[in-house]
Amino acid sequence: MKIKLTTLSASLLCALFSMQSMAQKALPAYLDDSKPVEERIEDALKRMTTEEKIKMTHAQSKFSSPGVPRLGIPGFWTTDGPHGIRPEVLWDEWEQAGWTNDSCTAFPALTALAATWNEDMSLLYGRSIGAEARYREKDILLGPGVNIYRTPLNGRNFEYMGEDPFLASIMVVPYIKGVQENGVATCLKHYALNNQEFNRHTSNIVVDDRALYEIYLPAFKAAVQKGDTWSIMGAYNLYKNQHACHNQYLLNDILKGEWGFKGVVVSDWGGVHNTREAITNGLDLEFGSWTDGLRSGSSNAYDNYYLANPYLDLINSGEFGTKELDDKIRRLLRLAFNTSMNRNKPFGSFQSEEHALAGRTIATEGIVLLQNKNNVLPIDLNKAKRIVVVGENAIKMMTVGGGSSSLKVLNENLPLDGIKARVGSAAEVVYVRGYVGDPSGEYNGVVTGQNLKDDRSADELIKEAVEAAKSADYVIFIGGLNKSNNQDCEDTDRHHLELPYDQNRVIDELAKANKNLIVVNISGTGVSMPFTATVPAIVQSWYNGSESGRALAAILMGDINPSGKMPFSVIEKLEDLGSHLLGEYPGNKEQLAASKHRGDTINVEYKESIFVGYRWLEKQKTKPTFSFGHGLSYTTFEYGKVEASSKTVNADGTITFTISVKNSGSREGKEVVQLYIADLKSSLPRPVKELKGFKKVSLKPGESQTVSFTIDSEALSYFDDKKHEWVAEPGDFEAHIGSSSSDIRSKVKFTLK
Ligand code: BGC
Repeated sequence: MKIKLTTLSASLLCALFSMQSMAQKALPAYLDDSKPVEERIEDALKRMTTEEKIKMTHAQSKFSSPGVPRLGIPGFWTTDGPHGIRPEVLWDEWEQAGWTNDSCTAFPALTALAATWNEDMSLLYGRSIGAEARYREKDILLGPGVNIYRTPLNGRNFEYMGEDPFLASIMVVPYIKGVQENGVATCLKHYALNNQEFNRHTSNIVVDDRALYEIYLPAFKAAVQKGDTWSIMGAYNLYKNQHACHNQYLLNDILKGEWGFKGVVVSDWGGVHNTREAITNGLDLEFGSWTDGLRSGSSNAYDNYYLANPYLDLINSGEFGTKELDDKIRRLLRLAFNTSMNRNKPFGSFQSEEHALAGRTIATEGIVLLQNKNNVLPIDLNKAKRIVVVGENAIKMMTVGGGSSSLKVLNENLPLDGIKARVGSAAEVVYVRGYVGDPSGEYNGVVTGQNLKDDRSADELIKEAVEAAKSADYVIFIGGLNKSNNQDCEDTDRHHLELPYDQNRVIDELAKANKNLIVVNISGTGVSMPFTATVPAIVQSWYNGSESGRALAAILMGDINPSGKMPFSVIEKLEDLGSHLLGEYPGNKEQLAASKHRGDTINVEYKESIFVGYRWLEKQKTKPTFSFGHGLSYTTFEYGKVEASSKTVNADGTITFTISVKNSGSREGKEVVQLYIADLKSSLPRPVKELKGFKKVSLKPGESQTVSFTIDSEALSYFDDKKHEWVAEPGDFEAHIGSSSSDIRSKVKFTLK
């Protein structure tokens, strides 16, 4: 018997030693990883009592669930997720445990990852954060999130991967594989239809099947079928009037039925509301009920979980047998064999230089150059003598805040520090505040320790900024949102699309004072940008984690050529989107008006159906401020003419499109070549075009590359809600290839036979 001792839990060791010493008996099948997994599962299952099984299905602390100590089956330790490993909290409270060795590497938020449009970045991300989770002895990482960006007001857009199901489906898979290589499960969230924070526990989403299957489910499906995520988290909201954490349609019919998911459904924290539904409707592991836990009362609150004593009572009374329970346990054991009981998992690593570098690389690839009139960027340090930096986000730590994804970091390199370090003695860097946003910096007992209080009036701050700007060679305004309530934060949505704290006024005044103005918007969701005519250079940056400052400086100074592309459309006003124009955000108006207390269920009807993001804008011919897929470079790319491998494609065949792309500028750079498919005539309404392929290529000046995309009929299909199946309708289609959804360089027609 050869076992790696270091990876075994103490209880497992005891069980093993006592078993060995007693009679040198053979290893029980469930502990013998040379045996087939299903055999091990059945062996463990038959050794467990009903009480032990029940215990396994619910939490024992804020972030852990018990195993079966008698059998040496360890419990699960979970952690948020999804941008870094959350600091340790007390056993039964949200407050800090006070550990001094749990400061992690903060990776860029998932919108930043999506903006890289680069699968390699997703794998690097997964491997790095997975190694951090593993080092901290976690079994389940609560992330990544792939809910679709339906409205820019959603407080959690920054934790997700944008408005397009294809982009999110491609980007989520390597993240999962990278994490799970470490013997740590991803817990994909929040399944499903969790597209706003307002009324997050009481919104009942009313959505047609086309939108459900074409827009809201594909990324989850890819994560299950292509990524093989070992667990998934149910969402807080309701669908068909059942909470998503115990939902017959989403969990039993679609996830476990249609998709064949073999993993564990974990509830969101406090997302369970009903024992019978939790038993029958697909939930496997309950967390976070009674969020005060043991704080009050002497009896164990965890015994009162929906899947605890109430479940046991229903079994003892004969209302339920153990069929459902055994299914849950089989799934939990399968998860344990991959994670907590996996003897081949690595040890992981934490706070390493390598992880910081990974975070920086991802961040630099995700920053998007939205506009660059007069080639203001990159900053020319040969000419600049004085650079003025304005704005709170240049100096504010952003890793603390935003809800459950909040972190405690080893280092956070701030934008101003990154810029100063990079500029060095080449020029003078002057900082002025410009506006005061949210000077506080605390989440669940983690404090930034920054003192950002400034009592001066808005007029005084603007006056100071304008004075400083007048004599500068460059002015860099760094603002945006900041993960405070209503500014990219869990449990709250934003109230409007505008930049908060009157930042537009500061920007307007700076634009009048200096023609070399660069506006850097740091956010995880779209903000309106009414200043595109007066501000020459605009950069969309993200919550970029530990390496924020160095990453931003590398882009602004041109050490790295920007190559990020927008994962969502930047719009002018909310009514530009169907979700707002058709009036069902944040819910049915009459029900909202009639609702007297929290707890009433409010319908949110997705009346715009499949027309989300650019799909809606293009249908309505509404021009966004910046389109989905848009992002400039310091070089230029010339596209050739797209060629199709044939004029027709059979339903069971494939077709390939090729196009040459040349770096026609003078700098090395990366371009994301995007393929959109347009169905020219269809019996059901379809978007003007939809993203169905993308490739990021790196080209030296003058270099060309032929990029090809092979698609099959899946890329041509819509979901027929009457037949409940995907249909590729014969007829004419067009392949559009370009640099963004609004910058198509070449098109070719073809016919599906
Ligand atoms: C969030 C989840 C998170 C969980 C645990 C919930 O409030 O919705 O995303 O993983 O808390 O912190």
